[in-house]
Amino acid sequence: MLDQNLNILIKTLPGLEKVLARELRQLGGREIKEIRRAVVCKGDLGFVYKCNLWLRSALRVLVELERFQLRDENHLYKMIRNIEWEKYFDVSKTIAIDATVFSDRFRNSLFVAQKSKDAIVDRFRDLEDKRPSVDLKSPDIRINVHIQKHHCTVSLDSSGESLHKRGYRVEVDKAPLSEVLAAGILGLIDYQGKGPLIDPMCGSGTFLTEAALYASNVPVNVFRKKFSFQNWKEHDSELFQTIFDAALAKENQVLPPLLGFDIDPRILAKARRNIKNALMEEVIKVQKRNFLEWPEDAEIPAGATLIMNPPYDLKIEADIPELYEGIGNTLKQHFSGCTAWVFTASAEGLKYIGLKATKKIALKNAKLDSWLVRYDLYEGSKKNRD
Ligand SMILES: C[S@@+](CC[C@H](N)C(=O)[O-])C[C@H]1O[C@@H](n2cnc3c(N)ncnc32)[C@H](O)[C@@H]1O
Repeated sequence: MLDQNLNILIKTLPGLEKVLARELRQLGGREIKEIRRAVVCKGDLGFVYKCNLWLRSALRVLVELERFQLRDENHLYKMIRNIEWEKYFDVSKTIAIDATVFSDRFRNSLFVAQKSKDAIVDRFRDLEDKRPSVDLKSPDIRINVHIQKHHCTVSLDSSGESLHKRGYRVEVDKAPLSEVLAAGILGLIDYQGKGPLIDPMCGSGTFLTEAALYASNVPVNVFRKKFSFQNWKEHDSELFQTIFDAALAKENQVLPPLLGFDIDPRILAKARRNIKNALMEEVIKVQKRNFLEWPEDAEIPAGATLIMNPPYDLKIEADIPELYEGIGNTLKQHFSGCTAWVFTASAEGLKYIGLKATKKIALKNAKLDSWLVRYDLYEGSKKNRD
């Protein structure tokens, strides 16, 4: 059963493991260990609830049920059938299996998912003469089967839909960032929610909304309606409500300026709707502005951090050299004293910024190799290519 000492595995995006481990430490996780694209730790059911509500850089939170050395496919079937599924969920719930396989012995993940599903269904049929239905799109219960060489781990997915679906973003446009990636990047740049933040190419407003949720100390998944753990037999709705209410009581009312700009008014209208959904319209201010024509008299809050995700591929139809050269010029002319971070998948574009980078972090944006690059803009910063 789901006891006090659960083995919890939290999945994240590549490059965000350290940020996630830091979040887990702050949340009170025990025995935290970073692994590839995930962090493992120990905790109880209440901690699983907290992880789902609070973790900004998490994709999903898995609770381990069984771990064993796998011999062959019949052994997989037998071991999964032996798990007391009827203690975890009712036969009326719909199920789906996520299988990940890194092993020569097993044919493919689809086969493993099928075999695991058969084992669970057969157990219920034997016990109750009924079987749970499969719903691949929106199941009540998600089960994760992970095979690495001959090690097999079977877990319950407490999140259900990926945690990047916060519930506030309904409007997106050209190349929006995943909320988890945006939050993870804010973690990587060590944004503490204290100083002013400017996103001059804000698109649908993801960086700003994530920053506002962080600065206001509001759990990032407060707007989310559904978590898979709500369908578990052992779900303790009173405990969840207590944790939820306690989280809301921690809200911070004093927030730094959070400013967004974009050249495209159509995108800004979408950003405003998302920001409103996150109840941050009083906090985040967005307006139309071409970054390459930054007005001489525009006020910039002292000590501001800039974060931007400029267009980076042909899909967005940008003239990459001209755009990135313009970005470098604007940063140099108008933002001395600030720190700027550029996140892009355009290696070519970065060459045209022409400022000395003080840090470069390799990441992925979906499947694209991307870089998060820092520029410290001192008075009289020299353009590299001058
Ligand atoms: C990759 S998208 C940013 C996506 C954003 N991070 C999000 O999560 O939705 C790039 C944005 O830069 C804007 N943009 C392009 N050129 C610009 C310019 N010269 N000044 C301001 N914004 C610009 C585009 O309209 C687009 O919204």
